[in-house]
Amino acid sequence: MVGEGAREHAIAEALAGAEDRVYVLASYRNPGLANVAEHTGGQLILGSITSQSKVKEILRGTNPDIVVIGPEDPLFSGVSNTVKEEGIPVIGPSQRCAMIEGSKVWMRELMWKYKIPGRLRYRKFDSLSEAASFVRTIQGSIVVKPAEQVGGKGVKVITDLQAYLSDDKKTSVSSSLEEVSSVVKGKEKILVEEKVEGPEYTLHALSDGSSTIFLPLAQDYKHAFDYGVGPETGGMGSISGPNDGLPFIDSSELEASKEIVKSSLRSVELEAHERYVGFMGGQMMLTPIWGPTVIEFYSRMGDPETAAIVPRVHNFGDLLHLAAFGSLGKAKPEISQLPTVVKVLAPRGYPISRAMSTGHKIELDLRAIQEIGCRVYFGSISLEGGQLITQGSRTLEIVAEGDFVDASMRIERCISMVKSDYPLFHRSDVGLTIPEQERLATISRRIYKFKSSNGTLGSLSEFIPQGDNW
Ligand code: GLY
Repeated sequence: MVGEGAREHAIAEALAGAEDRVYVLASYRNPGLANVAEHTGGQLILGSITSQSKVKEILRGTNPDIVVIGPEDPLFSGVSNTVKEEGIPVIGPSQRCAMIEGSKVWMRELMWKYKIPGRLRYRKFDSLSEAASFVRTIQGSIVVKPAEQVGGKGVKVITDLQAYLSDDKKTSVSSSLEEVSSVVKGKEKILVEEKVEGPEYTLHALSDGSSTIFLPLAQDYKHAFDYGVGPETGGMGSISGPNDGLPFIDSSELEASKEIVKSSLRSVELEAHERYVGFMGGQMMLTPIWGPTVIEFYSRMGDPETAAIVPRVHNFGDLLHLAAFGSLGKAKPEISQLPTVVKVLAPRGYPISRAMSTGHKIELDLRAIQEIGCRVYFGSISLEGGQLITQGSRTLEIVAEGDFVDASMRIERCISMVKSDYPLFHRSDVGLTIPEQERLATISRRIYKFKSSNGTLGSLSEFIPQGDNW
């Protein structure tokens, strides 16, 4: 296992369940991963997860049957290529295939070239000044992003400002572009996309290079605080289920989303001239303009979506083996009917100031948490001299299975058992927002179905309400 967070902890436990001996390459001593490694007779080895030489050294020392790469950075730096060159089956796409996540422009160009449904309109610019003059001329709301992946940083939404507010619009555009440019750091590649709204969801596919299976849907709670306010984070919670869906996505939308993710994955293979072996996650939105729509793709599993999904797929470790050896066609995922809820604990300061959120001690009573029926995945936290010390990002992910409201409440009881002399925060509303998501989905669904029925899907024309329900 390459990687060190809560996603890797969840996947490593699934490998342990498949009776694997687990070796982990991690940049700090994640206590959950260290525990899995120790109990399976493996080892947690400290080192840079993007270092090709370190990866080679470990492969030669341990001779594993398969390697699973958790996060995106090792994929972007070619760790998957290195593992393959050493003759070892690997779950995680090659550097070229991982461009589906690494380059937003490459991803959008691919979707338009292969006419994949759910593709947003976009323009790319090589310089900030070109982007600024374009942005000032358009009506409607847009999203401005760095064209290359920078950990979700620098994404700015510019909401439509009326012509009579043109001075405000100029100021807003300039400050937004300045923020994006502070991240782009001289490369000056900017992507401008149409802004869409609607409930979001994540659909993961697992591919062995010829067969594809889908994991149950999940939803990520992106913003730092309850009611979806505060800065965007890597995700402060997630939900999954029941069965393979979510309550606010209907079966035809699930099927359409599968078609989008699958055809995108096969198009990546055509474009990269390589087989795609590993996970691809469609971060989707049910929008009034397009129906199921792609916001971004992951070339790996989402975090904290993984913590909601993996405990629900009882033979997850076996699926990884089948995928690594090209036998995914034989796979029969065993998926729990029950939903899951995941809440993330993070130290105050996250995601704005790593300096503030690093170096704090926490304590937790794992046994008491397990007695309440929850499990803990350790994230950005290191075991140092017998103490748990925060590493600056999301610290713990606590998972409960069961009805959304009950699971959410059970996790609250567990959270009260986590102690720290430094403030930790979490979202209490994870699992409690289904009615609001259903309301948003109903609005999107009525509009996109109306557009679809009169051949105007994707058009920006005004929607005229029809029927008695409006
Ligand atoms: N949940 C967001 C991510 O994995 O990037």
